[in-house]
Amino acid sequence: MNIKERAREILAGMTLEEKLGQLNMLYIGMYDNGIDELKKAVRAGDGGSVIIAGSIVPGDGDDTELHKEIAELQRIAVEESPSKIPLLFGRDVIHGHKVVNPIPLAMSASFNFDLIKEAYAETGEEAMCDGINWTFAPMLDMARDPRWGRVIECPGEDPYVGTKVAKAVVEGFQGTEMPYKMAACAKHYIGYGASEGGRDYHRAEISDYSLRNYYTKAFKSAADANVLTVMNSFNEINGQPTTSSKYYLTDILRGELGFDGFVVSDAGAVHQLTRQGVAKDYKDAAGLALNAGLDMEMNRLCFPNLRELIDEGKVTVETVDTAALRIIETKLKLGLFENPYSQHSTFDLNKHLETSRKLAGESVVLLKNKDNILPLDKEAKIALTGPFLHTKRDLLGCWTLDFDLDYVTTIGDAIKAVAPNATEFTALRQYDLKNYDTVVAVLGEAFDITGEAHSVTDISISKAQAEEIHTLKRLGKKIIAVISAGRPLALSEIEEEVDAIVYVWHGGTQTGLAAADVLFGDVCPSGRLPITFPRVTGQIPIFYNCPPSGRLCNGYYSDDLQWTNYEDCLSTPLYPFGYGLSYTEFEYSDMTVSKEKFTLDELKNGIKASVTVSNTGNRDAKEVVQLYIRDLKASYTRPLKELKGTEKLLIEIGKAVTVHFELTDKDLGYFTPHGEYIVEEGEFEIFIGHDSYTENKITVELF
Ligand code: BGC
Repeated sequence: MNIKERAREILAGMTLEEKLGQLNMLYIGMYDNGIDELKKAVRAGDGGSVIIAGSIVPGDGDDTELHKEIAELQRIAVEESPSKIPLLFGRDVIHGHKVVNPIPLAMSASFNFDLIKEAYAETGEEAMCDGINWTFAPMLDMARDPRWGRVIECPGEDPYVGTKVAKAVVEGFQGTEMPYKMAACAKHYIGYGASEGGRDYHRAEISDYSLRNYYTKAFKSAADANVLTVMNSFNEINGQPTTSSKYYLTDILRGELGFDGFVVSDAGAVHQLTRQGVAKDYKDAAGLALNAGLDMEMNRLCFPNLRELIDEGKVTVETVDTAALRIIETKLKLGLFENPYSQHSTFDLNKHLETSRKLAGESVVLLKNKDNILPLDKEAKIALTGPFLHTKRDLLGCWTLDFDLDYVTTIGDAIKAVAPNATEFTALRQYDLKNYDTVVAVLGEAFDITGEAHSVTDISISKAQAEEIHTLKRLGKKIIAVISAGRPLALSEIEEEVDAIVYVWHGGTQTGLAAADVLFGDVCPSGRLPITFPRVTGQIPIFYNCPPSGRLCNGYYSDDLQWTNYEDCLSTPLYPFGYGLSYTEFEYSDMTVSKEKFTLDELKNGIKASVTVSNTGNRDAKEVVQLYIRDLKASYTRPLKELKGTEKLLIEIGKAVTVHFELTDKDLGYFTPHGEYIVEEGEFEIFIGHDSYTENKITVELF
C-alpha cells in the first residue's frame, strides 16, 4: 500500500473531531498550567503537532528533561489520544543547533552547496537528539533590502542561489529517501522578503511577472526536493494576505510549483487576518485560511472554530479531509507510525565543529586587500581593537536557540592563539600604539539588531566605529577591518581609510577561528557576495539582476556621470553581487560554447559552455566560477545579467582547470506576466567570470 492509500485508510477510521485535531499546532505558552495542560490537550487529541518554542526548550535548561518531555508527549499521543496518531515536534532550527553555523545569508556566500547540505544534515542530527522531528527551515525569502532584519535568514538577492540553497537544506535535513529523517519547512511563502521599506510584516507589491521569475523559484526547488511542509508568510501581496489567498496557497503553490505536503501558518498569521481587515473575527479567519489551502494553524487560536463553520456550511468536511490527509501523509513519510520516538541520542561534536569551521571559513568574503596586506605573518606585531573583539553571542547571529557559548572562541582570542605578538588596545593613543604599524579592528553589528522585527533605517557602519577608524588613520596605521554582521553594512565612510576588509558575518560558533584562519592565510578566502553591498542606505533597493532602463543610467552597472541615478552618490554599489577577493590570482581564458546558433530542440538537449580558469598566483585556492546570461531582445524587459550556474573548485598554484556548464530551455526562458513560460528566439549573451561585473562573454543565437 502506498503512502496515499495508507493515509486514506487511517483517515477513514477517524472521527471529524480527530481530523480537526490534526490541523492544530499546540504551544505550551497557550496554557496557564504549562506542561500538564499541554499533556492534557495532547491526550484529548487537540493537536497534530507541538511547537517547542517556550520554556521546555533545549538550551534553556536541561536537555535530558526536554527529550524526556517530548518522548512523554509522544507516548501520550500514540497511546492515549483518541486517534493515536503521532505528533510532529517543530522548532526553529535555522542555522545550527548546539553547533551554530553561519547565518544563512553567510552560508550562501560560501557558494559551496554540498558543504551547506552536509552542515544541515549535522544540524538535523543534533536537533533529532533533542526529539525534534520538524524544523522551520529553510527560509527562502529572496530579499533585496538589507534594512529588513530577516535578511540574515535568507539566501540573498538571487533566485538561482535560492534554488541551490533550497535543495541543499531540504536534502540535508530530510535526506532524499523515505522514511525522511525529519521534516523541513520552506518558508515564508511568499513575498515576505519584499516587505516595503524593509519594514517587517509589511505589505508587499509584487507583480506576477516578478513573482514567477524571482520569488517562487526557490520554493519550486524545495518542492522538487520533496520538502514536506511549507510555512505561509505574514504579508499581503497586491491586496491579498497570503494566509487567505487561494491564488498563492493553492493555485500557484500546488498547481504550478507542484508542492505536495502540508502548509502551516506562521505564528498568529491566521488571526492576524482580522487586523489585516479581511476577516470579521477569528472564526471567519479560520474559514478563509482553510478554504484557501492552509492546513495547520500554528498556535490554535482560530481553527477550533472549524467545527461550527462546517455546521454552518462554510467549510466542507472534504476540505478538512484534504488538510488532515496531507498531515497524516507527512507523518507516514517520516515513518512516525513505525518509529514515533527519536532514534538519535548522540552526535559527533568534533566533526560538527570541524564542518562549521570549514563553512564559516568559506563564507568569509575578502572585500579589500590593498597591496596584499593580507595574509598577515603570524609573528608580526599587530594591535587588536574594536567593539566586537571579544563578543561571543553576537558572532552567532539571531535565530539560534540552542547554542552553547562554551564552544565559541572570540575573534580576539582566536587571533592571539596563533599570533603571539598580537596585543589588545582599547584606548587608541599614539604613545601606546607607537610600536604597531598594523591594527586589526573588529567591527560589525550586534546580533539583536538583526532578525525578526529588528529592521533598521540605516545600514551604515556605526558612527562610533567609523570614528575609531578615522582615529587610527590619523595615527598613520595600516588598518584591517574584520566585520562581523548579519547584513551588508554600508561601508563608504571607512572604505577608503582601511587597507583590508574581511567580512566574517555572524559566522556562528566558529567565526573567531575561521577569521583567524583567513587573516593568517591558513584558509584562502573564497566567499562571494550573495547580496549587493550598497555605498549608502539610500541606494536601496539595488540588485544586480535589474532590467535595463531607457536612458543610459543603468545605475548598477555604470558610473557614467552624465547618466547617473543620483546627484549625491555614484550609482554603482560599493561591492557587486558575486564579488570577493582571493589571496591568489585567477585568469579566465578560452571560453567556448558547443553551438553558437541552435534551435529550441537543440537547446532542450543542452548547450554546453566552458571556460578555462588558471591559478596564476602563489597559493592553492578556491574560485567560484559564475555563469550569467542576458536575453538581448525579448517581448518583456529582461535582466542585464542573470546567474544561471556556479562551480566552486580548488585550483592549485600554476594549474588550469576547464569548467563546464550546460544551459537548456529552462535557463534561457522566462515567465510572462500571465504565467506562461516562454523561450524566445534571438540573441543571448553568455558570460562566465569571477563576479557579476564580468564582461567575458560569447553571444549565441536561438533561431
Ligand atoms: C516566524 C517564523 C518562525 C515562527 C515560529 C514566527 O514569528 O516568522 O519564521 O518559524 O515564528 O517560531
